[in-house]
Amino acid sequence: MIPTPDLGHLKASDYQHVYEPAEDTFLLLDALEQDQERLRQAAPRMCVEVGSGSGCVSAFLAGVIGKQNAVFLCTDVNLRALQATRQTGTQNQASLEPVRTDLVSGLRLQGRVDVLVFNPPYVPTPSEEVACDGIAAAWAGGIDGREVTDRLLPRVADLLSPRGVFYLVAVRENKPQEMIDQLAKAGLHGEVTCQRRSGPERLCVIRFTRRAGQP
Ligand SMILES: C[S@@+](CC[C@H](N)C(=O)[O-])C[C@H]1O[C@@H](n2cnc3c(N)ncnc32)[C@H](O)[C@@H]1O
Repeated sequence: MIPTPDLGHLKASDYQHVYEPAEDTFLLLDALEQDQERLRQAAPRMCVEVGSGSGCVSAFLAGVIGKQNAVFLCTDVNLRALQATRQTGTQNQASLEPVRTDLVSGLRLQGRVDVLVFNPPYVPTPSEEVACDGIAAAWAGGIDGREVTDRLLPRVADLLSPRGVFYLVAVRENKPQEMIDQLAKAGLHGEVTCQRRSGPERLCVIRFTRRAGQP
């Protein structure tokens, strides 16, 4: 069993500014743990988490893959989240590399990403609530809770390496099947690997991989 990362360095006051790991985060950890053999066998060199928040997911992923075995790039629009990510890396002896950017903008990652992870702001809200930074950026997802995710999806097939895999957290309102169908057109196979009900939310993790025969 992979230990949940130590987040003892983050206080209640930090979580006023940075997303505190919650059921969605833990479902993603479960999905990664469930795939640990598959992930290790693929021997990933480049892992990218979009929207790393506390850094909990990337620190866990480093534990799954091996802390010395890959680069762990962590992007976020929230500066305080990136500070927390760096601290979480240090606290858990994982070298997480925080980058402040929108999604993966400005990073030259085409065809290089072996593991891509995104627990996006998925809560349906009016479009004007989708935030550029700060804690609101953690949850406000705009129409269908998809406005941020929908900006990443068209780039995924281009980012992934031939053995690349993409883990995406979603809720029912995000229309997971529609996203699976959309990425199928880009040559990716998507399937729900974990799901859980948490209060009113029906959460799932979708795993996307290249279809056999696709470059
Ligand atoms: C639901 S939280 C998830 C945090 C963490 N990955 C976890 O699972 O606990 C979403 C994160 O995405 C970040 N975020 C929102 N919009 C973003 C964007 N356009 N580019 C990068 N990060 C973004 C937020 O600041 C927040 O840290």
